[in-house]
Amino acid sequence: MRGKIEALLGAQWGDEGKGRVVDAIASRVDVVARFQGGANAGHTVIAEGEKHIFHLLPSGILFPGKTCIIGNGVVVDPDQLLEELGELQRKHKDRARLIISGAAHVVMPYHKLLDGMEERFRGVGRRIGTTKRGIGPCYVDKISRCGIRVEDLLNEDVLREKLAYNLEIKNEILSKVYNEEPLSFGKIFEQAKEWGEKLSPFVGDCSLEIERALQQGKTVLLEGAQGTLLDIDHGTYPYVTSSNATIGGGLTGLGIGPSSISNVIGVAKAYCTRVGSGPFPSEADEETANWLRDRGGEYGATTGRPRRCGWLDLVALRYAVRVNSMTMLALTKLDVLSGLEKIYVCTSYITEKGKTENFSGGSAFLEQAKPVYEELPGWQEDIGECRTFESLPKEARKYVEFIEEVIGIPITLIGVGAEREQVIKRGL
Ligand code: IMP
Repeated sequence: MRGKIEALLGAQWGDEGKGRVVDAIASRVDVVARFQGGANAGHTVIAEGEKHIFHLLPSGILFPGKTCIIGNGVVVDPDQLLEELGELQRKHKDRARLIISGAAHVVMPYHKLLDGMEERFRGVGRRIGTTKRGIGPCYVDKISRCGIRVEDLLNEDVLREKLAYNLEIKNEILSKVYNEEPLSFGKIFEQAKEWGEKLSPFVGDCSLEIERALQQGKTVLLEGAQGTLLDIDHGTYPYVTSSNATIGGGLTGLGIGPSSISNVIGVAKAYCTRVGSGPFPSEADEETANWLRDRGGEYGATTGRPRRCGWLDLVALRYAVRVNSMTMLALTKLDVLSGLEKIYVCTSYITEKGKTENFSGGSAFLEQAKPVYEELPGWQEDIGECRTFESLPKEARKYVEFIEEVIGIPITLIGVGAEREQVIKRGL
């Protein structure tokens, strides 16, 4: 029988805890594939009592016998990738097979420099708050058809020609627009050749790999990075990342069609967080935000920045369910809410045109949208030991059921703590 594809996608602004959901379902998956983003992501996985943070490697990399894919839609920072691989080798945890698409684009040193310069020039009001990992400038080159792909690192002549062309332009921009020193061709060329030598054993065709896996009846998991509200098309533009973090990105970013996708799992926290600038309708007041940040350890895995915190936004969550055709939701960090007297959930917005339950990523809409909250009773008990839905306090059950009712899909996994076993499975 032909295998199937499941997708795991962020339903908020990233950092929903996707890594740990991959961990919880990894046993039934044979292939884990990343399809967009780059080292801007920070996936925290706790396995065998040890915490790992991956920026580029798919979370499945810790599992022996799995195949992990970095798809053509990903932008690869070779230094970062080689560092993550080296770390796994040192710990003898390089037990999965890794394939990197030759068509994935390479984040070059000038992309990182330009990311920083562009942010500086945007100024305070327009700053996106990027991770400065060179993501935006690398995707710019991809779309303007001058980017360097992983396969180009394997061919000295092609690399020389493409790098020379790119550096000519980039150096003009760096020196004439940003008043920076031009970069040296020789140094970057040598570095890029070395990347090519080190990465060549992993380079392959991800679309073909997935097709073969499906023909063998295997299950493929698409592992999203960032989240729906950071999607370049469907997110809160321009305060977004430069790739499609929604389901469509999974298809173009790997070279697959939609018919094999049998399950789209959204991941959302029991509250909301956002790193970087941009609209956040349900952002909490300072006192509540500090409380959530402390309880939830809400600091960026990639940049260490404190995350902005707020109440769960069901208007935005329903939107994420819609644009991705999500079939089920994993709700993480429910334990963080223990101890609150009352919990607020945003169920609609008041806008200039009246009340609405429909989200829109447009800034004109979001700038004037005011959240309308429903107040639900909190619970005081520590829920870290709960392993069944029935063992949760009734207020916590009510909270989960309320969310399910509004978004119209079942919550099939609930996170109740940071440890691997601290999950309640309800059919995932
Ligand atoms: P970039 O992806 O580095 O260009 O950053 C663009 C926006 O996306 C910024 O607001 C970042 O904070 C945000 N962002 C990028 N990656 C992540 C992530 O993995 N989690 C949360 N926010 C992210």
